[in-house]
Amino acid sequence: MGKAYPLEPMEVKQVSTKYRKIVTKIPVPESIPILEKLRQWEPRSMSGQPLVVWHRAKGINVYDSWGNMWLDFSSGVLVTNSGHGNPRVCKAIKEMVSRPFLHNYCFPSEVRANLVEKIAQLAPEPLKKVFLLTTGSETIECAIKLCRTAGRKISPEKKVIVSFEHAFHGRTLGSQMVGGIPSLKEWIGNLDPDMVQVPFPGDPRQQDRSFDVFINTLKDKGVNFDNICGVISETYQGGSAAFLPVEYAQKLREFCDQHQAFLVFDEIQAGFGRTGKLWGFQHYGVLPDIFTLGKGISSGLPIAAVVGRPEIMDLYDPGTMTSTHTGNPVCSASAIANIDYIIEKKLPDHAEKMGKIFEKELNRIKEKYPAVGFVCGKGLVWALSIVKPATIEPDGDTAFEIVKKCVEKGLLLFAPVGFGGASLKIAPPLIIKRDAIIEGCSVIEEAIAETCQ
Ligand SMILES: Cc1ncc(COP(=O)(O)O)c(C=O)c1O
Repeated sequence: MGKAYPLEPMEVKQVSTKYRKIVTKIPVPESIPILEKLRQWEPRSMSGQPLVVWHRAKGINVYDSWGNMWLDFSSGVLVTNSGHGNPRVCKAIKEMVSRPFLHNYCFPSEVRANLVEKIAQLAPEPLKKVFLLTTGSETIECAIKLCRTAGRKISPEKKVIVSFEHAFHGRTLGSQMVGGIPSLKEWIGNLDPDMVQVPFPGDPRQQDRSFDVFINTLKDKGVNFDNICGVISETYQGGSAAFLPVEYAQKLREFCDQHQAFLVFDEIQAGFGRTGKLWGFQHYGVLPDIFTLGKGISSGLPIAAVVGRPEIMDLYDPGTMTSTHTGNPVCSASAIANIDYIIEKKLPDHAEKMGKIFEKELNRIKEKYPAVGFVCGKGLVWALSIVKPATIEPDGDTAFEIVKKCVEKGLLLFAPVGFGGASLKIAPPLIIKRDAIIEGCSVIEEAIAETCQ
């Protein structure tokens, strides 16, 4: 975990197809001064991604300044759902900038009104109030705050937040504490004893996927169920693209109802069509009390949202739950154009159809190469978990090499994520077509074959 790709230009095979073009060494020799500048002036933590110096990005392609073009299986980091540089999104941004209207804090604006109305109309009843923020992590902080605020109204002890092992909810204090990756929390020191994690039932390594594990783990941890104010789960776990079993999700909903706890779905990755449905929780046939959005909401500019039942969202008095950049006009305009595009072009349905092609191709690759331990996903989000020979132990080093080879061949993946840093995550823009999927999967296969001979 936590490695940087070497700044050493390597001779690679030249590539020229409809979707990929590699005409230089990788990393590009001329890009090294830029990469060195970043390494000099940014914290080391920023140097984790493959060494592609982005110059522009359009549709399903990313370009550098030296003639190379990548087929993008990353969407940045699951952001550009309606495609990179979607012309309608760009037009909406330009209009707002040329007006000019760049900032208005929490003063009213028509564009913010239109965006919250749009999201509320797309959200199922009774989740009809929307609070705009800037990043995903902030929406999780806000969800925690709302769960605990409501809990305290019932009893001062009703403050336990339950979440899942291996979960990722962001990098701020609260979002890391409800996250389920212990190594990310070491710095916190005094962890909140009322934030507890239970095993994630969708994890392919998890033997018992029944809801009994939830109940028994909480009992073992000495949690009084009536003290739980909220249960937070990613709709699917970002690290593995693994989903909850449907029956488990339904029992979880019943449990929350029985114990007056809110169910919160973190839809920051899953929302806006990524999983083949507009909202990921539609796969489970249950409704959350609160859900959080980010990433694909705008396909580019930073904006995020918390959506919930009005009586929850209205817990705070005027002026006491706000943010400097809430509903920034440029970001809001871009989000409206993006959401309209996703709905008009029926991108969730398209993602569902394209997902079937990935499912087939990736499982074919898994059958052929034992290094691929698990394939999980739905719609246009997938993960291949790379394992050590004849085990289910994650192999982060091999995954790191496979990503490097893909990038050298013109397929853009971000650095491996998830348990042991061993998941190759696949998440192209939702406008991708069949031939590009087949081409990208063949590159992944070649890279695995070359790395794992
Ligand atoms: C599921 C999930 N929740 C929360 C976050 C945090 O979002 P942000 O990086 O915008 O703070 C992420 C980001 O990767 C995520 O994938």
